[in-house]
Amino acid sequence: MIYSGKALSVDVLPSGIANLVFDLEDSSVNKFDQETLGELQEAVAVLQKADVLGLVVSSAKKTFIVGADITEFTSKFAEGKQQIYIWLVEVNKIFSDLEDLPFPTVAAINGIALGGGFELAISADYRVATESAIVGFPEVKLGILPGFGGTVRLPRLIGADNANQWISSGSHIKAKQAFSEGALDAIVNEDILIEAAESIIQQCINGKLDYTKIRVQKTSPLTLTPIEMNVVFETAKGMVASAAGPNYPAPITAVMAMQEAAVMDRAGALEVEHQGFIKLAATEVAANLVQMFLNDQFLGGLAKKQQAAARPISMAAVLGAGIMGGGIAYQSALKGTAIIMKDIAQEGLDLGLAEARKQLNKQVAKGRIDGNKMFNILSNIDPTLSYDGIDKADIVLEAVVENPKIKQVVLAELESLVREDTIIATNTSTISVDGLATVLKRPENFCGMHFFNPVPVMPLVEVIRGEKSSDETVATTVAYAKKMGKIPIVVNNCPGFLVNRILFPYFGAFSRLINDGANYKQIDRAMERFGWPMGPAYLLDVIGLDTAVHAQAVMAAGFERMKLDIDTVIDRLFEQKDLGQKSGSGFYLYEQDKRGKPKKLPNPVTEQLAASMASTSKEFEDEEIVQRMMVAMCMETIRCLEDGIVSTAIEADMGLVLGIGFPPFRGGALRYVDSLGLSQFCEIADKYADLGELYQPTTKLRDMASANENFYS
Ligand SMILES: NC(=O)c1ccc[n+]([C@@H]2O[C@H](COP(=O)([O-])OP(=O)(O)OC[C@H]3O[C@@H](n4cnc5c(N)ncnc54)[C@H](O)[C@@H]3O)[C@@H](O)[C@H]2O)c1
Repeated sequence: MIYSGKALSVDVLPSGIANLVFDLEDSSVNKFDQETLGELQEAVAVLQKADVLGLVVSSAKKTFIVGADITEFTSKFAEGKQQIYIWLVEVNKIFSDLEDLPFPTVAAINGIALGGGFELAISADYRVATESAIVGFPEVKLGILPGFGGTVRLPRLIGADNANQWISSGSHIKAKQAFSEGALDAIVNEDILIEAAESIIQQCINGKLDYTKIRVQKTSPLTLTPIEMNVVFETAKGMVASAAGPNYPAPITAVMAMQEAAVMDRAGALEVEHQGFIKLAATEVAANLVQMFLNDQFLGGLAKKQQAAARPISMAAVLGAGIMGGGIAYQSALKGTAIIMKDIAQEGLDLGLAEARKQLNKQVAKGRIDGNKMFNILSNIDPTLSYDGIDKADIVLEAVVENPKIKQVVLAELESLVREDTIIATNTSTISVDGLATVLKRPENFCGMHFFNPVPVMPLVEVIRGEKSSDETVATTVAYAKKMGKIPIVVNNCPGFLVNRILFPYFGAFSRLINDGANYKQIDRAMERFGWPMGPAYLLDVIGLDTAVHAQAVMAAGFERMKLDIDTVIDRLFEQKDLGQKSGSGFYLYEQDKRGKPKKLPNPVTEQLAASMASTSKEFEDEEIVQRMMVAMCMETIRCLEDGIVSTAIEADMGLVLGIGFPPFRGGALRYVDSLGLSQFCEIADKYADLGELYQPTTKLRDMASANENFYS
């Protein structure tokens, strides 16, 4: 052993080749935290003087190196530009020193090598990997660019075209693709990974491979002509800018850094990368996206705790094979839990199965599963019109029509047929879980499990704890959601639960704006510019105006402040049976495009209707539109937190991001309020106090503002 630390060690193999092994103490994965980087620096210093024939870099964990330690980013980025610069120079010196070692070097990649992990790998001369290896640079997803030489070495290794694509998309790249594009030199079986790496070094020693040539290539300017360079980078910039949009500056900054550095040697190119990194690290977008990552980890950890008391689920059932029931059955079967799908109508079953088949065909077309697997998944769904076999189900999801009376009848009947320990969960989107529980003999076995439409796509599941739901019921439902590949957030019962309770005040603000003379197309544009994937009018069309009218009535019955004392366009469209996307017209008109997807077109009739229903005519600035919409949404999020509907700001914000597409780069409603500053937010809200209680700050919020607090501190 010539070096031994807590994160890595260096030994000399019998072949005379050194082996640097990453094995971070007390951690399931290797990552570049400060301590690991410090040890790497020491190990490289030892290697510079070591009498060895070459170096193999490998991992003793199940995967290689997952990347930098993102939990250190928030404090690191807060240190300021000067400190970040010093850090970057220091770390990059380690990677460059490794690249310059006086003997050939090979990275032996088992499993994941992302971000800093792959930057280390491309600092070596060669890379040999297992077939399971996943490589790439996901930094742009955190609002930054690769900072340990990724933008410098990758284009010099695999060409500017590929590098632009890899880095600006942040994609995970499978071993096969990485090999075909030249980022990996060989793919071998795991059991001969180290031997394969040693054999590459032997070939260098024997003169069969010239590793010095690769070093020259990686440390020199790109070998493109000025014309080629222009074509490659200008095309990439155009594509990246339109894909990422104006709110995500990282992808375009990365491409521009690679373009600027293309004519430079390693030192110059690294300097360009540092500057790009520093610029991005200082943005609020990066801070919010890093926080999103941390939130995700937080939810993962929380779910682990929440499902500790879970009972095993080997068989499930769903009542109602409609849009939701069909999606739930598909998702359960896909992830390996067999499911009975019961409906009262054969057409329902046919529809549910057709939905599952459609989803599976998509998976087959994408090459994710083969026909055999599709057959197996489909045979995991048992469509039936009878309750036969329901006693085998460990959990039954109720997804019949949204009508409290029908649901109560169905639930009571169901309870008399299932086992005493079977959990029953309702997928209602609005009806009180406690109200439904009143018809049950075992309300402790009952809770809500609210999926979002379309089930296979939407990651969030709200698990609603009723007053009488047992911990075991909640734990088991959380575990089932996780097993289905979803992200569960446990919330307490109230009308609309978390997400719809917050969404409807936002729609209320929308209706009020129209009533005050705002043009709904302008509202959509303003909110889309703010970062929403779709504006509120478009979103209402997608949800369906019938659903919106129904849910609004439930919310208004539950909360006085959500009553709307105005005649709304939503109601009028519903009365006219213009239900949005599903009927072909609503706020917009819809026709099918060539691929059969609904295409949105203007609807002059609704525009006229909206204008005629306005009680005043006023020109609105986008800023006022955004403020009115966001104040209503943020205030209700704050109330949900104050009322204990969710326990933490993170859960509230993640519910909005995962459930309704709140712009991730803004980090969620509470994070957005934090970014404005609580006092500033109260000042904005106060401008709209006349519009009603929805817009008025709570006493607690004002207290927090005076105490200079925020939600994420
Ligand atoms: N559609 C959405 O966007 C959405 C989103 C979240 C939650 N939900 C909720 O999911 C539930 C189902 O909604 P959907 O959109 O799938 O409705 P849907 O109308 O598409 O399907 C309901 C199905 O239930 C069947 N059904 C009716 N009574 C039944 C009974 N006694 N036993 C078995 N099946 C019965 C119907 O035949 C129909 O196939 C509702 O509670 C709804 O609020 C819907």
